[in-house]
Amino acid sequence: MKNTADIVQETDRLTAVLSSMTEGVLAVDRDGKTFLVNRAACDMFGLDERKAAGRDIHDIFHNEELSRMVEETLASGNVHTFETADVQPKETLFRFHVTPIKSSASDLGVAIIAHDVTSIDKLEKVRVEFVANVSHELKTPLASIKGFVETLKDGALEEPETARRFLSIIERHTNRLNNLISDLLSLSKIESGQIPLEMKKIRLLPFMNKLVGTFEDNIRKKEHTVAVDIQEGLTHMYADDALLDQALANLLDNAIKYTPSRGKITVSAAEEDGQIRLAVSDTGLGIPEADLGRVFERFYRVDKARSREMGGTGLGLAIVKHIALVHGGTVFAKSKPGKGCTFTMTFPKRKSTS
Ligand SMILES: Nc1ncnc2c1ncn2[C@@H]1O[C@H](COP(=O)(O)OP(=O)(O)O)[C@@H](O)[C@H]1O
Ligand SMILES: [Mg+2]
Repeated sequence: MKNTADIVQETDRLTAVLSSMTEGVLAVDRDGKTFLVNRAACDMFGLDERKAAGRDIHDIFHNEELSRMVEETLASGNVHTFETADVQPKETLFRFHVTPIKSSASDLGVAIIAHDVTSIDKLEKVRVEFVANVSHELKTPLASIKGFVETLKDGALEEPETARRFLSIIERHTNRLNNLISDLLSLSKIESGQIPLEMKKIRLLPFMNKLVGTFEDNIRKKEHTVAVDIQEGLTHMYADDALLDQALANLLDNAIKYTPSRGKITVSAAEEDGQIRLAVSDTGLGIPEADLGRVFERFYRVDKARSREMGGTGLGLAIVKHIALVHGGTVFAKSKPGKGCTFTMTFPKRKSTS
């Protein structure tokens, strides 16, 4: 036989366990009234912890389906699971499990266990959308490649001029697929956060000059003027050099692509409010106000056709954003449509130890 002290200790333990749970738990007796409600449930549904017991389940949730399931479980002992956003607070998606509570002697009622699955639901939607986007992006060049290969097999191979032209098109689409896969791998590697940053001291002037040098051909072709502007007295910063190079290369690539010939592009570095600000600005097409906040989303392009035509993957700025984030920094864009735009990355200024 258990003595009173044992029972008190057991009850305390049970209460402690229920209080520490992140799931909301409501125990409901055979009359549909609560006899135990844990803290998480009170927080989730805005209940006063002292008055939460003895309440009718329908008065708490005002949800017909949930009331029906509680009744059904009380009658049959069946377990139910369902999701609904139709309880207070609105805009929250809850998953409810309704299960019978049976002691060795009798049926005590049912337990309602509530999970807030709003963020899981959002993540799931983002994932589904991402998979759909990737599939679409892969499918378009592949369909094209397949079409041209078939035309070649059907006879175009006999006409060398046509064949050569088709092969160039196939090559272009293959390159696009290649770029897409590299960008996807890059993004998932950076985003996973599993690769440790290799923080290095970066001497800004040679770093920027080298970066601009790699775009020499494209800059010359479009007759752009590119200036490197580093604040006086600012000599270096700390970052993962490979990632920083990738981020700035994406920004510079965009500036060159989306600026009509003979534009002015500036790559600059400055220290402001204890942060290092790196910016790439151009005198190009600019970005409409409505798109400005969205260009960092994966596959978001202001002009889809133009981006594709230029071999873009729509992932460049998403990569830039994640590179800034893993460094504890930020990125933002400003633009005057028709006049150009400026992309700025900020980095915390790390105290030098070397
Ligand atoms: N410097 C810029 N000037 C005008 N538009 C830009 C610029 N940089 C980016 N954009 C817009 O943002 C979109 C997303 O850029 P990004 O992620 O690099 O993808 P991509 O260049 O492959 O299309 C581009 O398609 C373009 O519409
Ligand atoms: Mg780009």
